[in-house]
Amino acid sequence: MVASKKIGLVGGGNMGEALIKGLLQSGQFDTSRITVSDISRDRLNYIQETYQLSTFSDNGKVARGSDVIILAVKPQQMGDVLAEIKAQVEHLPLVISIAAGVTIATIEQGLGKGVPVVRVMPNTPALVLTGATAIAGGSHANSDHIAMARVLFESVGLVVEVEEAHMDAVTGLSGSGPAYVYLFMEALTDAGVLMGLSRPIARDLAVQTTMGAAKLAAHSDSHLAALKDQITSPGGTTIHGLAVLESGGMRGLLMEAVAEATQRSRELGKK
Ligand SMILES: NC(=O)c1ccc[n+]([C@@H]2O[C@H](COP(=O)([O-])OP(=O)(O)OC[C@H]3O[C@@H](n4cnc5c(N)ncnc54)[C@H](OP(=O)(O)O)[C@@H]3O)[C@@H](O)[C@H]2O)c1
Repeated sequence: MVASKKIGLVGGGNMGEALIKGLLQSGQFDTSRITVSDISRDRLNYIQETYQLSTFSDNGKVARGSDVIILAVKPQQMGDVLAEIKAQVEHLPLVISIAAGVTIATIEQGLGKGVPVVRVMPNTPALVLTGATAIAGGSHANSDHIAMARVLFESVGLVVEVEEAHMDAVTGLSGSGPAYVYLFMEALTDAGVLMGLSRPIARDLAVQTTMGAAKLAAHSDSHLAALKDQITSPGGTTIHGLAVLESGGMRGLLMEAVAEATQRSRELGKK
């Protein structure tokens, strides 16, 4: 049933492309079911050549021919896009927005007439189909609309449903989170270099360790502290390393980082 839906993507940039990849690789959507519009002719040519999708420079045309329209433009571009597709409002069974900070109320007001809206916050690992996405339904979105959004974004990773009020926290945690992890891996690499490892070897070890630990955690029901305890023997190397991280306040710092990013997301959403 999902496979029969026509998906229209407005904005074929980084996130738009990640979604295209995910939808096609999931095997649930074929190229004839996905159309893309973008303001950039170069981008449309690239999408057309790379993924063999139909592309248009007219957002309204894509909106008109779609069962689900995904708005994947920058937040500051959203006003223009809503104005352009508003005329198609009778033809918009479901509008999904991935724009950070743009509220469901803004989109509902921009489109009018009780259009079902689902707001979504993905992150960049969606590019390698390992994204973490939160979804929240608007006042006209029913369980079928939420289920549709879930299927679409599960094609690029994990999906959780949250209240819209928690979207800023999601932005501070999983939206910005990949950057925290890159910083962690970069520091781990430098630490290896400090201890005499070559940079390429230190990088490979840092990235693989982060990925492996994440995979183990994802495949386990254990509390994260239990996973940590499994490799922390009395008086051993790991507890010596952990003691340094704890005395440096790593836990508290991460909490502050997420709190600051959440607050910033709130501020940007008000602009
Ligand atoms: N990247 C992330 O980590 C991430 C995570 C979660 C959510 N998001 C959200 O995803 C959205 C897209 O982000 P992105 O990184 O994919 O941005 P992006 O790479 O800039 O993609 C947006 C695309 O839309 C095009 N565009 C601009 N105005 C348009 C219009 N009026 N009609 C049609 N297309 C238009 C842009 O063209 P030009 O380049 O020529 O302007 C660009 O190709 C943003 O709202 C962002 O908040 C991103």
